[in-house]
Amino acid sequence: MASQFSKGNGNRLNSIGMMPLTRQLVASSGDLLRRRNVMVALAIFAGLQFIPARRTNPPVSTDFIAAAAVPAAEARLLRAACYDCHSQETRWPWYARVAPASWWIARHVREGREHLNFSKWPQGRPWEAKAKLESIAEALRNDSMPPGGYKLLHADAKLTSAQRLRLGAEVQTEAAALRLPSPPGGLSGIR
Ligand code: HEC
Repeated sequence: MASQFSKGNGNRLNSIGMMPLTRQLVASSGDLLRRRNVMVALAIFAGLQFIPARRTNPPVSTDFIAAAAVPAAEARLLRAACYDCHSQETRWPWYARVAPASWWIARHVREGREHLNFSKWPQGRPWEAKAKLESIAEALRNDSMPPGGYKLLHADAKLTSAQRLRLGAEVQTEAAALRLPSPPGGLSGIR
């Protein structure tokens, strides 16, 4: 821009005196605007903090680890990798107190507990518990849980493939050992 004017198109005043001034004015109004945007963003961020997220840890009724007599080493892995979202013993991190992260985390925990809650075990009827155990074993085998973002923030939740496979196999054995009562009227009862 400046070089275009200084090529001598007769408008020397503009090229020497005015341009820098207008540019300065434009620049400082840009600064003001930017500063205002930051203030507005900060005000919105502060406002968000008044919309609380529900971070609850209701009392545990029956813990899976105790009910299924899970050995200590496996219990530690389950607690580190799964219990934050699938139990009522969530370790809420500090950023779970800051909106909007707080809403997102609280929703994950709510959904996680709805799908699978290790603090309320056994879950539903015996065949439901068996189906849950099988889906836990599958999640471990496929490495589909815990979610990737969670593993980024929690180094201890990143199980090695050996840990996943061993834990998965044990959960699968637990599922196979769950004896299901025959349906009323025997097998013909469900035909
Ligand atoms: C960051 C939270 C979080 C962690 C940690 C986590 N999960 Fe999940 N899990 C979820 C959410 C949310 C769902 C429900 C939505 C979905 O399926 O993606 C879910 C669903 C599941 C389901 C499906 C349950 C069903 O029958 O519908 C299984 C099984 C499961 N998780 C196992 C695990 C296991 C095993 C671990 C630990 C190795 C684990 N999860 C760790 C959030 C989590």
